[in-house]
Amino acid sequence: MQISFDENTRSFHLTNGLISYIMQLKADNYLAHLYFGQAVERFNLKYALYVTEREGCPQPDGMEEARVFSLETLPQEYPAQGCGDFRIPALRAVLDNGTSALDLRYVSHEIFSGKPALQGLPSSYVKNEDDAQTLEITLREVSGKLSVVLSYTIFRNLPILARHARISNSGCNALTLTQAASMSLDFNAAYEYDRVSMYGAHANERNIERRQLGHGIEHTSSVRGVTSHQHQNFIALCEHQADEHHGKVYGNTLVWSGNFDAATEVSCYGQTRLTLGINGEDFRWNLQAGETFTTPEAILCFSHQGFNGMSQAFHRFVREHIIRGPWQYRERPIVANSWEAAYFNFTEESIVRFAKDCVKLGAELIVLDDGWFGKRDKDNCSLGDWLITDTKKLPNGIKGLADKIHALGAKFGLWVEPEMISPNSELFRAHPDWALGVPEHKRSQQREQYVLDLSRQDVRDYIVDAICTVLRSAPIDYIKWDMNRNLSEVGSAQFPAAQQGEIATRFVLGVYDIMDRITSAFPEILFESCAGGGKRFDLGILCYMPQTWTSDNTDAICRQKIQYGTSYVFPPLTMGSHVSAVPNHQVGRFTPLLTRFICAMSGNFGYEMDLGKLSAQEQEEVKAQTALYKELRPLIQFGTFTRLMSPFAGTCNETAWSFMAEDGSKVALMYFKNLAEPSTKLRRLCLSDLDPQACYQVRHHLIPKALSVNPYAQDFNLEGEVFGGRELMEYGLTMDRVDADFAAYLIVLEKI
Ligand code: GLA
Repeated sequence: MQISFDENTRSFHLTNGLISYIMQLKADNYLAHLYFGQAVERFNLKYALYVTEREGCPQPDGMEEARVFSLETLPQEYPAQGCGDFRIPALRAVLDNGTSALDLRYVSHEIFSGKPALQGLPSSYVKNEDDAQTLEITLREVSGKLSVVLSYTIFRNLPILARHARISNSGCNALTLTQAASMSLDFNAAYEYDRVSMYGAHANERNIERRQLGHGIEHTSSVRGVTSHQHQNFIALCEHQADEHHGKVYGNTLVWSGNFDAATEVSCYGQTRLTLGINGEDFRWNLQAGETFTTPEAILCFSHQGFNGMSQAFHRFVREHIIRGPWQYRERPIVANSWEAAYFNFTEESIVRFAKDCVKLGAELIVLDDGWFGKRDKDNCSLGDWLITDTKKLPNGIKGLADKIHALGAKFGLWVEPEMISPNSELFRAHPDWALGVPEHKRSQQREQYVLDLSRQDVRDYIVDAICTVLRSAPIDYIKWDMNRNLSEVGSAQFPAAQQGEIATRFVLGVYDIMDRITSAFPEILFESCAGGGKRFDLGILCYMPQTWTSDNTDAICRQKIQYGTSYVFPPLTMGSHVSAVPNHQVGRFTPLLTRFICAMSGNFGYEMDLGKLSAQEQEEVKAQTALYKELRPLIQFGTFTRLMSPFAGTCNETAWSFMAEDGSKVALMYFKNLAEPSTKLRRLCLSDLDPQACYQVRHHLIPKALSVNPYAQDFNLEGEVFGGRELMEYGLTMDRVDADFAAYLIVLEKI
């Protein structure tokens, strides 16, 4: 791993043997981007940016005669607005004289071991100094009024870079930032890419969308104050021929949970620019003399082994450099959550009965979801009243219930939604100015709730205190931290007019502050974040809470797409996924218990149903399934995840993925076929990354029960069968005899 600066060519090369990232200082100290991709040993800098004159491109002062150098065609590291580059900028600001033309030039740089944390923001980290190296380049606006530090960290053994920018007011008067992206990446070639992003909605998160980049600007963004159900703060560019296993992919995401914009632009010269960071829409940040604004961190991944290569790098990165604390490598318990089992309708007695049934069948952590505080018999009141336990439901309080659950040998968890305030709550009646709002406007409601103004220190202190009091009041092992609405009428009663454009950003910084204070006060508690399901599944929150409820949709068929899309960036260990009842509460579908199990156990496994209501035979099935999950848990939670068949492809009828143990000793294969077909085509499924010379024996083969009345239908249980590694990768396994809708298979192979 090495970052070097070559004095002769005035170029920077960051490499770790997997990737190279090359920049060069051009005439008059413009910082140009030259290359990001697979590691290169040599790079001819002289011809890398060779261009001839293009009419219509301005030249900077002093370069007008040669006519070939223009910011309009120069690939840049942190392009700014107003001095001849007309493409999307990374930086926009209004200076004290009202103008916004910015001309950034290199001043100095520094190279050091390790990776410093970002001020006030979550960021990736290394445990040892020699696991990463950092380069910081300082640029200054020619007026001297503003300077930018670009920070780049390269990690050992990962094709990943972390970047952010720190923008300082180095003048004497205030200035206003109106755009401060975390990264900009220029692709200096006229060949074309596909653009891959994710879209969705509540209960339908992270659908993969891939289309060819066209000329002009395209945005994937959020202005909802959160990462959002609608778009993910992820963007990839890839070669047209790239697929799950082959081809060049550039994947990018943010360690950030608020408004964002992922923008791409293809210029008239075929150059492509990608910027990613806080959304410039409605963003204004005042910088007084001497103040600095730090952008969220962007994570850049390069894979030449397709999307699986990208995801596997992201997954390792999340496990090693994002998730922290005692739960980083600890196995996560099997959850039984009361939400879909009882909603608001429970008592201590019914929850203890629910817990007994679930624990008997293998659950390890009982979670009491919404409805335990204030007068919360419906989702229309009491948010904020965390110190008022509903003693009608829980006569012995949270502690009484927690003790009873612990006596069953299980852990106990609780639901909270600390960022919110109900109009109908004691808290709002006492502090109506504590909700975000805009003067002379009525606040919009979503789920009959408002959002707390977490830009305010007093509000944050109150919430930290209230939640910590609850956590101290009882033996609580787990918290589900929810966030059920988007931000609207974003204004704060405490900030002056000039700073109202900062509130959406300050809200997110406030969320991080309260999460940091609460999670670090209770490091042993396992926190799971949630935001109406998967509205805030991002690396920012994962820095505080090591798992996220993936979606409110628990249907095993919908979940294939949701989990497949989520796995582009996030490892299965982080994805809460539970078996729920049939008919499913979101889509009304009946699916076999086995299919629900195979889908849910492909993530952070649990139940979202009353297991006591199952038949005796189904309960036996659940018992066997939880036992099998416990056996496979290290493989699923810490193994390498590979996508094999996409639910977004063709008729969306089949999905397959696999998990490989770190040491290669075991592999689990999951295959789903949604609608049965007559005279179905033969399906063979090839595994990947096995040892070609080794033999693998089938240890478990879970297949749907034959429903067909066809007397010739044969069972083909493979348990005990031996296959060659090369055979499994080249010829594959036959997936046959699917004669029912919504079928799923699980095959576990062990190297012998
Ligand atoms: C949100 C969550 C659900 C559940 C409810 C409780 O919708 O996503 O899982 O916790 O809130 O009100």
